[in-house]
Amino acid sequence: MNVLVVGGAGYIGSHTAKALHRAGFTPVVFDNLSYGHRWAVRWGPLVEADLADKAAILEALQGHRIGAVIHFAANAYVGESMENPAKYFRNNVANMLNLLEALVETGVRHIVFSSSCATYGIPQSVPIREDFPQNPINPYGETKLVGEKMLKWFGGAYGLGWMALRYFNASGADPEGELGEVHDPETHLIPLVIDAALGRRPPVRIFGTDYPTPDGTAIRDYIHVTDLAEAHVRALQHLLQGGSSMALNLGTGRGTSVLEVVQAVEKVAGRPVPAEKAPRRPGDPPALVADPSRAREVLGWEARYQDISEIVATAWNFATRHPQAAPSV
Ligand code: UFG
Repeated sequence: MNVLVVGGAGYIGSHTAKALHRAGFTPVVFDNLSYGHRWAVRWGPLVEADLADKAAILEALQGHRIGAVIHFAANAYVGESMENPAKYFRNNVANMLNLLEALVETGVRHIVFSSSCATYGIPQSVPIREDFPQNPINPYGETKLVGEKMLKWFGGAYGLGWMALRYFNASGADPEGELGEVHDPETHLIPLVIDAALGRRPPVRIFGTDYPTPDGTAIRDYIHVTDLAEAHVRALQHLLQGGSSMALNLGTGRGTSVLEVVQAVEKVAGRPVPAEKAPRRPGDPPALVADPSRAREVLGWEARYQDISEIVATAWNFATRHPQAAPSV
């Protein structure tokens, strides 16, 4: 089956295209390459087009005889979304509506959607279950929540089968070293710490050392990108086998602090990482950790990478093997 991977030239999309190929699907990547990379499209054709262009979506769905869609394409910088919400509602909501309408018009009945733990806002407690209240605290999270709502109502009205996958902190790189995380600008902790260790960037700033956590730094659930990719394949298979539509958390169920991430990088690098204390970053919750048990029950999926050191090692491997991906500072 041909699967349209919208945003398949990006970080999680490209790893999923590889996993789809391995599972016997043909990934057809639809990407405007605004943030994605041509070099990351290796397991099927690339349609270079934008979701704002509904005719291009219809042409891709029909021309490539698409049977299902996985939708990654979105703007995903929390800080930027606070300053420019219009960009986020335009691309993440209005352009997603183009995609959903095109699916209905062409009779494509299955979609897997990239959602986020950012839809929960500040949780009442951790670990977070799927039935916890969703109160996003930034426009990015709000647009992902609207995406989930559109799916729910389209599912009811048009018989669209959907899975909304709420990622926690996507991290790491393809263990075979073919793909990795290359964002511009980069704001994510692990690549910034690795680049600081390599002297490619200034010392890493530790945003907040006074959180109510054991070492005072914020806690996140870092989930390996290859585990995420595998979960997408299983979510797609679930839909194709007639499984019901739902949202699932994708995380390990373990929390790791910022300081523990820095220590994991020091271990793999074999040298200290230059770091400095900095104030809390506005909008950062103290702790976000998934309860991933529903994904295990429904998909038989569990994260293989449970240890932050192993996750960091794959990211380190990619960063050191591909110096051309390094930023200029
Ligand atoms: N951090 C630092 N220094 C940095 C960068 C990050 O201390 O230079 C800290 C952050 O404060 C946070 C942790 O490292 O505590 C992880 O930060 P990331 O920016 O890597 O990831 P976030 O948890 O902020 O963001 C992730 C996803 C978003 C999603 C969000 C939900 O990348 O898409 O989780 O809260 F919206």
